[in-house]
Amino acid sequence: MAQPLKLGVLISGSGSNLQSIIDNIEKGALKASIKIVICNNPHSFGITRAQKHGLPVVVLKQEDFKTRADFDGELIRILRSKEIDLVVLAGFMRILTPDFLKAFPLKIINIHPALLPSFPGIHGQKDAFEYGVKFSGCTVHFVDEGVDTGPIIIQSVVPVFQDDTKETLALRILKEEHRIYPQAIQYFAEGKITIAGRKVLIKDTEETPLIALHNPSLAGF
Ligand code: GRF
Repeated sequence: MAQPLKLGVLISGSGSNLQSIIDNIEKGALKASIKIVICNNPHSFGITRAQKHGLPVVVLKQEDFKTRADFDGELIRILRSKEIDLVVLAGFMRILTPDFLKAFPLKIINIHPALLPSFPGIHGQKDAFEYGVKFSGCTVHFVDEGVDTGPIIIQSVVPVFQDDTKETLALRILKEEHRIYPQAIQYFAEGKITIAGRKVLIKDTEETPLIALHNPSLAGF
């Protein structure tokens, strides 16, 4: 049997995406193993989640490093020492240096709470909400040198309702994050993902049915 994919998960916050990865591994849906959780925020609830499941956690504080390069150098060292196959950014609030990207070419993925390329950056849900879009969603993508610009692996679309607040919308999006992130990692584990330019192709998957969605719905048109 193939070895489970070795993951390094980088977090900064509540760690709910980390939790969904842990849960999917534990129920056998995701054939991967988390070798290390690295956190740059000592107050992150994700640390508690990881420890509860017996996962090794390293907390790295930016202020303990002179430069970003030093910080990323330490990240690289730890991830290499664990022979990580895939670096999973799960709410990791830092831009990585080009050296970090070079150390793990096409082996770093991220989840973003908006339909990229719209609304990149740290306030994806709020920016989409305030813009007044009728649909938003989330995106799993490879990480490149830009901010949320790498090739897209999976997206999930959710409607924005008229009585939504940015909080209710963020929650609806988060539920979908917890579905598409483990799925994207599983595709990677199965070796199904190839990249052609900006386009990610996934072998042997069913594409979504050819339908158009409207929000609000059309009245007879
Ligand atoms: C998620 O909304 C993710 O899309 C964004 O940061 C948030 C992290 O949430 N990159 P959590 O820490 O996984 O709960």
